Amino acid sequence: MHEETKDITEIILKATALAREETNAEPEPEITKDVKWPIECTLGPGLEGAIVGETNVGYVNGSKGWLVYRGYDIFDLCAYSTFEEVSYLLLHGRMPTSQQLQVFKSKLHHYQHLNKTLRLLMGFQVEDMNAMAALRMGTNLMRQEFTYHDTEAGRPCTDDAISSDEDSIAMETKPTGEEHAVYEMKPQCGSTSSVIKHDLQDASGLEACYHLIAGVSTITAAISRIRSKRMPKEPHPDLSFAGNFLYMLTGNVPTPVEERVMDVALILHADHGMNASTFAAMVVASTLSDIYFSVGSGIAALNGPLHGGANEQVVRTLYDIGNEKKVKKWVKKAVSEKKKISGFGHRVYKAYDPRARILGPLAELLVRDNKDIEPVYRVAAALEKEVLASFGKEKKIFPNVDFYSGIVYSCLNVPPEIFTPIFAVSRVAGWTSRVLEYLQNNRIFRPRAIYTGEFNKKYSPIDERVD
Ligand code: SDX
Repeated sequence: MHEETKDITEIILKATALAREETNAEPEPEITKDVKWPIECTLGPGLEGAIVGETNVGYVNGSKGWLVYRGYDIFDLCAYSTFEEVSYLLLHGRMPTSQQLQVFKSKLHHYQHLNKTLRLLMGFQVEDMNAMAALRMGTNLMRQEFTYHDTEAGRPCTDDAISSDEDSIAMETKPTGEEHAVYEMKPQCGSTSSVIKHDLQDASGLEACYHLIAGVSTITAAISRIRSKRMPKEPHPDLSFAGNFLYMLTGNVPTPVEERVMDVALILHADHGMNASTFAAMVVASTLSDIYFSVGSGIAALNGPLHGGANEQVVRTLYDIGNEKKVKKWVKKAVSEKKKISGFGHRVYKAYDPRARILGPLAELLVRDNKDIEPVYRVAAALEKEVLASFGKEKKIFPNVDFYSGIVYSCLNVPPEIFTPIFAVSRVAGWTSRVLEYLQNNRIFRPRAIYTGEFNKKYSPIDERVD
């Protein structure tokens, strides 16, 4: 660890001690080891309480406020590990040796070079798109060479299509005398039974997971730069994953503190049990679709303001409130309108979210050198205090991972619309790890719903129907 980042380790160790102190009195969890299927569980709407399978990837204990990745406590991983190590741990189930980590890092670095994908991406109006929609599209563009769904057989033969520049994608247009080149498709060349060149052995190859973990960071950084009318940056040969992500995003080599904070933030967001986006990724994978489609569905689910989209909503709320003196009145109004306050509450945590325990003090550390963002942090601290005092403590509604993360990212010069994509940059590690694990013993997800509709309705022709 760099000399200047000692404060960060101190913050994490202090948060650990506080977490242990505050939740020690909670009952120890019953950890079930051997499960005899079929099992009974009490179900609520939205699959609340449903158990979808067994996992070694990660564990969340809502009453103790524990978060564990492959047996390692999140506080230890944040204090001593790196996002590269944690991604390897989640994917492979064990910590890497230095040799294994070196190979993994060089693969991630190799896969962060996505020039062709970025060139395709820049052919779209990324600056006018929802950043998560652009990110999802980017993962689709990434998959072209990596999955058996895009075999030669299925792809139009564009080798000899007439095109004005080698970047364009051949298309068919009526010859109506446009001044620019008219594209025409030659009849399908090559036999349709051509050998599949790049097929994966199955829908979940490890290389594709590495490709996605690296590629989502590159595409997120590129989307941010294109939206601010700048060209994407090539990854820097000497930086860590977190450092490179910030470099590709801002164009500047981050300070050791900025790099370490981003590294810790990526560790914190990497995996979190059977959350909505992880479940979405697994549902898609369970049909044996490929890992790119799974990650794309994870991105789609994460986008929602009830889930990963909350981090952007929080910062917008804090700016709306304006200053800490207005917090009390704002909360009173929110409660009277039964408003769900972004950044608070959680389906599982009924204790303080361990991730917020670290992101809060990191935000406080960073605003010391970001005076323009300090007032927003003060509003956040006041809002936390007021929510806990008015109903949070009683209803066990605490700040969650999204409450302080936006302030941290703002101090790292990340624009608000890129906060949720950063969540995806990290969570790809969790999504791909859980998909890999589930596919080892796959069963297509097919839950049921209770039909409360009518039966035996008589069909009538349209002209006999009245509204
Ligand atoms: C993430 O699942 C994961 O692990 C997700 C995640 C991950 O790492 O993948 O942790 C990341 O998505 C964090 C959550 C980010 N979302 C938000 O911050 C949005 C605001 N939060 C709420 O919408 C809500 O807390 C949820 C969606 C997070 C959880 O919703 P639940 O479990 O369905 O809870 P609920 O809506 O049934 O609420 C239960 C009670 C209600 O009160 P009553 O009607 O019983 O009186 O708690 C209240 C709710 O009104 N409540 C809130 C509240 N969250 C719950 N009241 C005010 N503000 C809130 N934020």
